[in-house]
Amino acid sequence: MERRVDAKNHKKILCLGLVCLDIVSVVDEFPREDSDSRCVSQRWQRGGNASNSCTVLSLLGSSCAFMGSLCAGPAASFLVEDFTRRAIDVSRLVWQPAGQTPSACCVVCPSSGSRTVLLADTNIPDVTSQDFEAVDLSAFKWIHWEARNADEQLKMMQRVERHNAALPRQQKITVSVEIEKPREDLYGLFSHADVVFVSKDVACRLGFDNPRDALRGLRGRLRAGAVLICPWAEKGADAADVDGTLLHCDAFPPERVVDTLGAGDTFNAAVIHKMADGCGLRDALTFGCRVAGGKCGFHGYHAIADILSALTRV
Ligand code: ADP
Ligand code: FRU
Repeated sequence: MERRVDAKNHKKILCLGLVCLDIVSVVDEFPREDSDSRCVSQRWQRGGNASNSCTVLSLLGSSCAFMGSLCAGPAASFLVEDFTRRAIDVSRLVWQPAGQTPSACCVVCPSSGSRTVLLADTNIPDVTSQDFEAVDLSAFKWIHWEARNADEQLKMMQRVERHNAALPRQQKITVSVEIEKPREDLYGLFSHADVVFVSKDVACRLGFDNPRDALRGLRGRLRAGAVLICPWAEKGADAADVDGTLLHCDAFPPERVVDTLGAGDTFNAAVIHKMADGCGLRDALTFGCRVAGGKCGFHGYHAIADILSALTRV
């Protein structure tokens, strides 16, 4: 394992998926329909699953890059500036000549722990396999996809499979995918990654009411030797290791839950951060739950560095 880490440690982690402008309103109580009320606070935040995971990776100390679509304009300028502030490599961004940079109205309600999102992202083309052809794969040790335009993403993953086929094991790029949205068209991606994150939402839609049954029922969709991870909000997370061993980690609830927006993206990033560093699945799962649980205790992502230093002091 040591050699594998040495050979790869100068390389980056690439995350592909959505970046959007989140307009986050924090409320005391969820607003009634057709009411007109004041929120407690409001902020602009860079959002989108893959983009949030980059934020967390970077705060944890992993060198990372983001690939997704943007349209030039004030929203995109804000987002690029924020990526840069977090030292995230944006050289693979795809600038679309027409369309609208995605944005979301996010209502965060600390009294209930809910986060309600209304997303507008259909006015911009997603990254294609042709865009991905231009990426120099030798710069990356790990590539993570947020499942979106699955047909194109499948072709991108197949390119990585071909690239990997010619390499010794320790130099192969690890591929992960997050299947978060309960949509049939995304399920073909289960069998194309080394590490699959499947959401509670997808698991429930596929007929499972707990993570252990979901792992047992969905593991057959993976390719041999792949890992399946299933976060389950305040119940923590479960995983099936390469040999089928089932693991569970309880959640680490913060003193007070204030902001669960991006908890899953935080969890994914923390797990990837550890696994890309050569750590075993059990420890990665625990770290993922610790960091994601800690994140729920504050607004946004900035305090992740503090969680990390508290953890390294333990
Ligand atoms: P999302 O809905 O953002 O995709 P999840 O709800 O699946 O994410 O949560 C991801 C991880 O975040 C969980 O595995 C858990 O470790 C942590 N988490 C989420 N909500 C809470 C909570 N209320 N208390 C503690 N940890 C939480
Ligand atoms: C959080 C998030 C937000 C974004 C929404 C998109 O997981 O990525 O940042 O608005 O989900 O679905």
